[in-house]
Amino acid sequence: MNDNNKIVIGNLKMYGSRASNQEHLGLLKKDLNNLKKTHVGLCFPYPYLFQAQSVLEGTQLGWGSQNVAKSDNGPFTGEVSASMLQDFGCKYVIVGHSERSTAYCESNENIATKFKGVVDHGMTPVLCVGETLIEREAGIMERVVSGQLETIINNYGPQLFKNTVIAYEPIWAIGSDLAASPEQANAMCTFIREFIEGANNAKIEGLKIIYGGSVNSENALQLFVLETVDGGLVGRGSLKPEEFIKICKIADQI
Ligand code: PGA
Repeated sequence: MNDNNKIVIGNLKMYGSRASNQEHLGLLKKDLNNLKKTHVGLCFPYPYLFQAQSVLEGTQLGWGSQNVAKSDNGPFTGEVSASMLQDFGCKYVIVGHSERSTAYCESNENIATKFKGVVDHGMTPVLCVGETLIEREAGIMERVVSGQLETIINNYGPQLFKNTVIAYEPIWAIGSDLAASPEQANAMCTFIREFIEGANNAKIEGLKIIYGGSVNSENALQLFVLETVDGGLVGRGSLKPEEFIKICKIADQI
């Protein structure tokens, strides 16, 4: 992704059915297959990856999953490995989403291992980082986010971020109807880039830093227009095809 184009990723969470996906994917394929420059991806629950691949293969739209196992094959009941995701043509893999790190106690170490595994399998990790409201109110949001990034940098070096996506998702903004302000998004996306590129002493090629948390068609323009914000990770706004199409088209007009 060595370009200045925006990227919009839908996180469908644990919603959908074969029937509703079929309709949803059909609409997206019709309306988003001729965007001029925006990369679009949709991250599904695992059972629907085959369906996503069947419908989207050969289009401009990418698909992916919302998690991955940290090991590749083995006696890990209920887990799905990076090579299996690759087998279904996944382009994107969300890693470290706060709904997982909170509910399933995922550590920064686990998240770093998953991130590396996704890169090693030629897919694009979408790493979620962000602070809680208490952390923001205490003014330690940069310390929290840099801690999340540091585990990857310390274990694998900053170059691992080449051609990957980082989603700044303040936890207080997810599912809340209270998106971060453009100023807050700009400040943190700038901080993230400076932190990683500072550790690398050089620019990181193809790194996209996007914003997530209550993105919708009303606030997308003011967020995406920022040069520091390379696009969005969209939860609820991706569940209704018309709304997601609007958001992607806004990104494409910038
Ligand atoms: P939201 O979710 O857009 O519904 O706030 C974003 C996310 O969880 O990635």
